[in-house]
Amino acid sequence: MSSLSRQTKKGGSVMPEASRPDRVRGSMTRPDNHVIVMFGATGDLARRKLLPGLFHLAAAGLMPDRYQIVGSARRGLTDDQFRELARQAVADFGDVKPAGEGWEAFARRLSFASAAPGTTDALTAAIERAERQIGGSPGRLCHLAIPPAAFEPTVTMIGAAGLAGGSRVIIEKPFGTDLASARALSQTVDAVFNESQVFRIDHFLGKESVDNILAFRFANGMFEPIWNRRHIAYVQIDVPETLSIEGRGDFYDQNGAYRDMIVTHLFQVLGFLAMEPPTSLDDRHLREEKFKVFDALKPIDPAHVVRGQYAGYRDEPGVAPDSQTETMAAVRAEIDNWRWAGVPFFLRSGKRLAASRQLITLGFHQPPLRMFPIDRDRTLPGRRSEIVIDFADPGSITICFLAKEPGVTMKLGAAEMTFRYADSFNAAYDLEGYERLLLEAMHGDQTLFTQADAIERLWEISAPLLDNPPPVQSYDPGSWGPQPAVDHLAAPYLWQLAETSSPPVLAESPG
Ligand code: BG6
Repeated sequence: MSSLSRQTKKGGSVMPEASRPDRVRGSMTRPDNHVIVMFGATGDLARRKLLPGLFHLAAAGLMPDRYQIVGSARRGLTDDQFRELARQAVADFGDVKPAGEGWEAFARRLSFASAAPGTTDALTAAIERAERQIGGSPGRLCHLAIPPAAFEPTVTMIGAAGLAGGSRVIIEKPFGTDLASARALSQTVDAVFNESQVFRIDHFLGKESVDNILAFRFANGMFEPIWNRRHIAYVQIDVPETLSIEGRGDFYDQNGAYRDMIVTHLFQVLGFLAMEPPTSLDDRHLREEKFKVFDALKPIDPAHVVRGQYAGYRDEPGVAPDSQTETMAAVRAEIDNWRWAGVPFFLRSGKRLAASRQLITLGFHQPPLRMFPIDRDRTLPGRRSEIVIDFADPGSITICFLAKEPGVTMKLGAAEMTFRYADSFNAAYDLEGYERLLLEAMHGDQTLFTQADAIERLWEISAPLLDNPPPVQSYDPGSWGPQPAVDHLAAPYLWQLAETSSPPVLAESPG
């Protein structure tokens, strides 16, 4: 009997507890020894994020004492070819460059085995070899860095190959493409894994500044009391990107901006912004509070959605010549609970927009009496009383307010106070979202991962939009999306990021 087949039973005895009460989440300790099995190891995500991320963790001394990484994909590569692919990926996309003994030691731990449903012998053999090299009973982390359509067959394949017991599995987003497919995927996953083994990843939840939303709100006495409908008039979660679809036409054209970014990353951020104070920071309490927010979301009204497509998108490789897929979506969401009733949440994301930013804006009601004259040259309308959280690494928080301009007249102008991570803490240990979450998954801590019922709820409220999407409108690359539709959606409020938001508002954070 092979060392793998002894663990074929779902949730085998080597599975450690899902979350360890003795461990402070995010503490920089090394995880136990591990074999990481990377499905989709030759793909875009592996090259852009996972291989550079794992090397950064190794360079930062955060990988386990003993670990091996087994890459897998349908196509065959030799170990050396995979090492070269990884070296190139780290050189192209990593902060730490692949050189010296650090790289050589990392590269020695890489191996490759192709796998497809029904042909998994090479993979199981490679994993056994890796486990023997480590010795003892290392943990096993399977990362499904593959397109959504491949999740179900791959999960089934892992089960059939006897690799599920004792493994944890990271499943990428989007988890399903609508409610029915998310439920079907959940059933497949449940048939092979216990919930404590499943880590549905949304790398925005691994971002330092997104986690800091919880600290900002719940560790300070001054923000939480005003974090509600009585004081906040609107919220924006705005994640424009200048990037195009970067050769991902096959994936992107099937999904579009709403599925790729909004129903996933942006709603997860909304969950942190809008949740009630959790009883504690443990995974159960946090996930419960996030679920309650999603439960209170109203179904998305297609009349409150703008779908845009950048001019030239249909010429991209892998995109249908008559594609109706949106490359930008702007959505007005509403939360039907006591804290947020009547407060619109504007969510926008898209490709080839005017800037790459990740910005949350909380706009406050104006005071009831306007006693002060305002210097309109220096104060853009609507830009008076806001908290702006820039959650792109390394992140910052700016409080925008009105202040008296120096001089004899009582005249007000826009002013800002900014906290910047880069200036305020030692940034030497900061990790990118994926890196942090890979570490959390090796520690078995599910707090920053999403659960099936929450994802299904998000698909449920998305159904009216998915069933009846408004037509896509063309926009010029480098703009903020189709006008006037995008501005009308947010009216009477103004997008923080817009043509008009030139200085004095918000310089980009450094880094
Ligand atoms: C991914 C999306 O999940 O997130 C991409 O599929 C997007 O389309 C990316 O570009 C943005 O994340 P980050 O961390 O690179 O800003």
